[in-house]
Amino acid sequence: MTLNPQTQAELKRAVGRKAAALVRDGMLVGLGTGSTATFFIEHLIERVREGLRITAVSSSLRSADQARQGGIKVLDMNEVTSIDLTVDGADEIDPQDHMIKGGGGALLREKIVASSSHQVIIIVDESKLVPVLGTFGLPIEILPFGYQATIHKLAKLGYEGSLRMANQQPFITDNGHYIFDIHSPKTFSNPSQDHNRMIALAGVIETGFFFDLPIQVLVGYYDGSVAFRRSQHG
Ligand code: 5RP
Repeated sequence: MTLNPQTQAELKRAVGRKAAALVRDGMLVGLGTGSTATFFIEHLIERVREGLRITAVSSSLRSADQARQGGIKVLDMNEVTSIDLTVDGADEIDPQDHMIKGGGGALLREKIVASSSHQVIIIVDESKLVPVLGTFGLPIEILPFGYQATIHKLAKLGYEGSLRMANQQPFITDNGHYIFDIHSPKTFSNPSQDHNRMIALAGVIETGFFFDLPIQVLVGYYDGSVAFRRSQHG
């Protein structure tokens, strides 16, 4: 189902609000990146203004800026070793809770933040729930040094895509790297195998596949309801 942008934004806002309501006093909160995470941060700011006491770490400079401007204390990630709760979006989630992330180009920091968290709530509208990963494409973070050679090695393994651009220049991540968006193959039936093949290449910093995280998926359904998706494997 294709959602019109306004409906999709309403669902994203609704899951963002619901996730912000789940944050408790005293928590160290990991802030995700993207339009859904932006709604979460907006509602978290409201709660902080109403008296909620939390600190945060961020998966991107832009989410950190938004939170600080709203009065949330954002620590440097190097000041912490573990995070109570991270809330982030996703581009696709399959029934096994495997995800593709990185549409906003923040996948490396998002993975570090999520994998350092005791609890991760992924906030999505229903369109992000897919039977098999791949239609969205797979963002991977690559080193600028030798990037053409890295792309060539990926192509030899059967992965084709395009370098992400911004204002006619390569998009640069917060870590100073490039993003290569893989468009072919269009389905990943064994994502961990694909992840292992790509990550083994010198020059590939991280892939947008996310597995084995303590996630709960909070979904904004097409009928307007917001609820946790029941895990289909536990
Ligand atoms: C950013 C991400 C985002 O979480 C993902 O792209 C979802 O974005 P949105 O909430 O805007 O649909 O991984 O790197």
